[in-house]
Amino acid sequence: MKIDLKIRRFNPTTKNGREPYYQAYSIEASEGMTVLEALMSIAAAQDPTLSFRRSCRSSICGSCAIKINGFTKLACSTQIIPEHEKAHEMVLEPIANHTVLKDLIVDFDPFWKKLDKVKPYLMPPETQPEGRTKEVHISEKDAEAIDHAQKCIMCGSCNSECNALEIEKKYLGPAALAKAWRFVGDVREEGGRKRLGRLSDDHGIWDCVRCVHCVEYCPKGVEPLTAIERLRSRAIQEGIKDNHGAKHVEAMVNSVKKVGRLDEAAMTFKTLGLLRSLGMIPFGLKMEMHGKMPHPHLFPQIKKIDEVRTIYAEIKRKNKNAKKKPKG
Ligand code: SF4
Ligand code: SF4
Ligand code: FES
Repeated sequence: MKIDLKIRRFNPTTKNGREPYYQAYSIEASEGMTVLEALMSIAAAQDPTLSFRRSCRSSICGSCAIKINGFTKLACSTQIIPEHEKAHEMVLEPIANHTVLKDLIVDFDPFWKKLDKVKPYLMPPETQPEGRTKEVHISEKDAEAIDHAQKCIMCGSCNSECNALEIEKKYLGPAALAKAWRFVGDVREEGGRKRLGRLSDDHGIWDCVRCVHCVEYCPKGVEPLTAIERLRSRAIQEGIKDNHGAKHVEAMVNSVKKVGRLDEAAMTFKTLGLLRSLGMIPFGLKMEMHGKMPHPHLFPQIKKIDEVRTIYAEIKRKNKNAKKKPKG
């Protein structure tokens, strides 16, 4: 079957490649052919200047993530014929949220630097507890809590589709945070609290806007958002609350407890505090002009507030009982 492809080209070292452009190719696709095999056949038979990354060809090394018809996927595990039948076209582009170096190859340096920032290794206690002479075994249940985060192949697909990263380049991003959970969630880890403190700083766990793209696009089921939510809960449990994210969560919980709904008018003030809220005045005026400003009178207490408070009391009781239960 003949398939026409459009591939985004870019080569800053040549005069006509300095601006990205799309080049058309055509291939004879066979049943089961992957997008990576199509790229390799173009490079071998039609255009040796076409640049892309690949190594294992078996969804293991994470090298070949690209955008296929607008969605980030591994080229080596995506069959070209069904993909073409679905989209009625075949447009290949480099992944997003990364600087393009040439054609489909992007700069992974910032990706590795962010990974480095979360210190991707286990921090065991500096001195072993007295009497410990053997290796530490972890239970199946404890291993399960971090299992999903161990599957990462560092392909960058999650970062490519991350809405928060698109807006804020300094955000650590889903791949690095999934790796952070891999170690914070490990029962053998001792440096967890310190790590959580750093991860709660600006551009860490609280930058995520929970769009779920990182879960949707991860080819390995790592679920970075699950990791981020676990990191957030753990940080709050550890009392790391002097940051906008934790304050925002607390403001939400308290607002529902107080009036039975989210009092958006009070949320900004409670999250940012007086000084930073004043800095939001220009933004507030803009919202007002567009009819988007939440007004206090829109959030009166609901009628059956007692029922909401009963739920809170029940959660508190359950948490208290759970803390009392001996671990093991
Ligand atoms: S859920 Fe959070 S980390 Fe995941 S893609 Fe969306 S904003 Fe990024
Ligand atoms: S979390 Fe998934 S999508 Fe993100 S880098 Fe790891 S394997 Fe790739
Ligand atoms: S070539 Fe290794 S994951 Fe695709």
